[in-house]
Amino acid sequence: MSRPSADLVVLGDCNPDVLVTGDDVTPSFGQQEKLVDGISLVIGGSAAITAVAAARLGLSVALAAAVGADPAGRFMLDQLSAEGVDVEAVVVRDDMPTGMTVALSRGGDRAILTALGAVASLTAADVPASLLAGARHVHASSLFLLEASLGPGLAGLFTAARAAGATTSLDTNWDPAGQWTSEHLAAAIGATDLLLPNEAEALRLSGALSLDEAVAKLTASGARLVVKLGERGALCVDGPVRHRVSLPPVIPADTTGAGDCFNAGLIAGLLDGMELPRAAALGCAAGALSTAAPGGTASAPDRTAAVKLAATASITAA
Ligand SMILES: Nc1ncnc2c1ncn2[C@@H]1O[C@H](COP(=O)(O)OP(=O)(O)OP(=O)(O)O)[C@@H](O)[C@H]1O
Ligand SMILES: [Mg+2]
Repeated sequence: MSRPSADLVVLGDCNPDVLVTGDDVTPSFGQQEKLVDGISLVIGGSAAITAVAAARLGLSVALAAAVGADPAGRFMLDQLSAEGVDVEAVVVRDDMPTGMTVALSRGGDRAILTALGAVASLTAADVPASLLAGARHVHASSLFLLEASLGPGLAGLFTAARAAGATTSLDTNWDPAGQWTSEHLAAAIGATDLLLPNEAEALRLSGALSLDEAVAKLTASGARLVVKLGERGALCVDGPVRHRVSLPPVIPADTTGAGDCFNAGLIAGLLDGMELPRAAALGCAAGALSTAAPGGTASAPDRTAAVKLAATASITAA
């Protein structure tokens, strides 16, 4: 049986988050026990959160990722399936644990501990060619976490997807190793239609001292660029045309996954034929709404809620 084609194929990290919430979530060593407001097990991994957020917005979505043959991997597969995400291309490794994150969250800030496990084993060869060939858009998340595995083949996957008529986007997210540069990264940036860093990442990826300089460097390949600016919204760069897009700031309960939900909204808008700033407004709406509840996907909105809030966005030439 041939696989039904997806609007969106997401490549990258898939792991549960153990989310610890409260005013004081700082651990005390010396075998001290502290009580916190809540601890929950939720969908984590930038790629998995983006996939769920896009499915909530009505896209048909497939995820390509790697988990272990353990309860944490089963949890992710069950949760993603319940959200309508196609997990047939999520590889289950018998010899590795599923990646796990512990996030200590106090409102607008969080500390994160991650064990990568199977996350860092996904290679380009694990991504079925038929899945890419049928996709309208291919998005890759967390390249630095998968640098040694997916890194070498990502530019080739983007090139193949674009040759088959899809558009592509890349959100590298943060580089825990602090390197911010590699041959594979440069090739992937050169091969994608759209790059989606936040402001701190844009500066580090480009080695620039100002956002203006970062924009010039990151768009040299001809890629479009959207820089996420937290509560200040986003900056859209399409050739010489720049727009600032924003919504009134909200006080977040937890910002985990805001960038991933933003990506999902932006991609949904572009696949609907919107111009980049209008699509970014849908991204801002999805990002802002996602901060209302702890975890990456608990308050990721449906299309009606995102469209309603996006209609109130301010879009100005920058
Ligand atoms: N406090 C807020 N008020 C309104 N909108 C917000 C707020 N925080 C985030 N957003 C929206 O969500 C988008 C993405 O958030 P952010 O800039 O934090 O991305 P990120 O740093 O990539 O996030 P992540 O940590 O999930 O990778 C922003 O561009 C903005 O539109
Ligand atoms: Mg991000």
